[in-house]
Amino acid sequence: MSHRFLQACRREPVDRVPVWMMRQAGRYQPSYRAMRQKVGFLELCRSPELVAQVTAAPIDELGFDAAILFSDILIHLPAMGLDLSFESGEKGKGDGGPRIRNPVRRRADVDALRVPDPDRDLRFVPDAIRAARRALGGRVPLIGFVGGPFTVASYAVEGGSQGFARLKTLLWSDPAAAHALFEKLTQAAVVQLEAQIAAGAEAAQVFESWLGELAREDLETFSFPYLARIAAAIRRAGVPAILFSTGTSAHLESLATLGYDVLSVDWRIPIAEARARARGVAIQGNLDSTLLLGPVDNAVARTRAMLRAAGREPGYIFNLGHGVQVGTPPETVKAVVDAVHAFTWSEQGT
Ligand code: CP3
Repeated sequence: MSHRFLQACRREPVDRVPVWMMRQAGRYQPSYRAMRQKVGFLELCRSPELVAQVTAAPIDELGFDAAILFSDILIHLPAMGLDLSFESGEKGKGDGGPRIRNPVRRRADVDALRVPDPDRDLRFVPDAIRAARRALGGRVPLIGFVGGPFTVASYAVEGGSQGFARLKTLLWSDPAAAHALFEKLTQAAVVQLEAQIAAGAEAAQVFESWLGELAREDLETFSFPYLARIAAAIRRAGVPAILFSTGTSAHLESLATLGYDVLSVDWRIPIAEARARARGVAIQGNLDSTLLLGPVDNAVARTRAMLRAAGREPGYIFNLGHGVQVGTPPETVKAVVDAVHAFTWSEQGT
């Protein structure tokens, strides 16, 4: 049985608009916070049975149409040789920002990076996919993911969430080293996605969250060729490919040519405009996630307005423009999910 999320990825007609949310498993949920009282963040990511539980919880609790593997875009960095931790990511604490003690600063650091063998070095990821598929029992598809090369490089080079100045300076001062870094991160992304899909991931999303930091000509030089290779690898493995980025509305036409089935867009562009400009691909997005921190009636009204604006044409997946915010009331998330599922065109009088 094909599911409405996968049908929408392929731009096939659906019975209802499918809905899922980035960070749908996380600190806004009491069940997740209870889990984190017992285990640290990285320890959780490395425990397949716990990952399966956390991945399936938002499906059970809130009724989303797809599950996303609970993991992190930096999870492979220790296997590449980087000493990753999450600050105050130990038991019970929140707000664990990533920290890398030996960041990549020069060519020799890039050359020392190893491309991981996922089935050996990251065995817990395919194991978690198999466990999550069992926990989901075919109710909804499971999305696998990796980080995009530019976004992962920003953490690897800065050593944490410290902006982009060091990475961008590397592009200008040693472009060959920058390309070598993107090449390794691309290879690491491809082998991880292949392993995730072989283990049972039914779609794959590339989180290129900070792509909007680059100018068009630099995207064309330092990003698009790598993102196109990742898209080709996902499609070769036979599942829909989704590209998520923020701050990239100016480049939608180019992004639509990279080989992804779905572009996930942020709230800075009206959804109708995104759909009109990104021809030949499905669109996912793009409610401002802070709306869910405000009055529930307003979040639901804006959800309904977005569904109307997205239009009837097949190939639309409801999501936020970025992840669910910490502090979002689960009741508001549920109200938005229910509003998406209740939406029909006949009700709109057209
Ligand atoms: O979307 C999902 O539900 C799947 C799980 C997932 C997480 N991180 C869990 C997580 C996914 C897909 C990610 C991707 C990720 N990780 C991105 C790209 C997406 C985005 O939001 O732009 C980035 C940049 C990271 C790196 C990262 N991981 C940061 C900067 C942080 C700290 C800030 C924060 O939001 O907490 C993390 C930690 C992290 N990743 C948490 C979760 C649930 C919080 C950890 C905790 O429990 O304390």
